[in-house]
Amino acid sequence: MKKILMIILTAAMALSFAACSNSGASSAQVADNAQNTSQINSNTENKDQQSAAVSDTDSSAENNNSSEGGKILVAYFSATNNTEGVAQKLADGLGADIYEIIPEQPYTDEDLDYNDSGSRSSVEMNDPSARPAISGTIENMEQYDVVLIGYPIWWGEAPRIMSTFIESYDFSGKTLAAFCTSASSGFGSSDQALRSAASGATWLEGERFSASASLEDILAWANSLGVK
Ligand SMILES: Cc1cc2nc3c(=O)[nH]c(=O)nc-3n(C[C@H](O)[C@H](O)[C@H](O)COP(=O)(O)O)c2cc1C
Repeated sequence: MKKILMIILTAAMALSFAACSNSGASSAQVADNAQNTSQINSNTENKDQQSAAVSDTDSSAENNNSSEGGKILVAYFSATNNTEGVAQKLADGLGADIYEIIPEQPYTDEDLDYNDSGSRSSVEMNDPSARPAISGTIENMEQYDVVLIGYPIWWGEAPRIMSTFIESYDFSGKTLAAFCTSASSGFGSSDQALRSAASGATWLEGERFSASASLEDILAWANSLGVK
């Protein structure tokens, strides 16, 4: 079954990347190597573990983002930078604070190899109770009214580290919405585990973006939520 899923995913990714001419050098390389999907992450950089921080929290101008929805935080995890690009556009466009969810143990290319059922990501995604540790915390989560949560789709779901994140804070009374990037999968029910873990929050409809999504498209989603 898993083998079939991998074949489907591989084919879908190849098609998706081939169709997407504007998604940067990393994606182009993947298209060239579509037969060897283990190379999907070969052109990516590992994250700087020291960079975990909420940005812009000291700028009153940046923090004056309290449109109808209140003060906004964009929190994201990105293993190969696609979601990061979308998160940055979203935060810039909204004048929101931004926070990167950085794993205590960074994901290597081998960790991300979905062709290997023994890879770290495969093992984690096969275990709904897996909770990869996050480096650092947000100390002032209470100041945010709206939290927009970004992640890559892994096997149709949010990576388990997103569950670590959502279970680390009290989101009761806040408004939450998730966004994701993927090779081809839609948003689906990828935020289901997160919704269950933060059931005291008001969840708005999530959205899937391509790695090369425009600022316009990204803000159109924020607009549709009423947070912009
Ligand atoms: C372990 C793993 C599983 C993935 N599963 C899917 C999937 O089910 N569907 C899909 O369209 N893309 C899948 N992808 C591709 C990623 O969702 C896509 O490349 C995403 O944009 C990566 O975002 P990032 O650069 O922020 O990590 C998977 C990637 C990895 C590493």
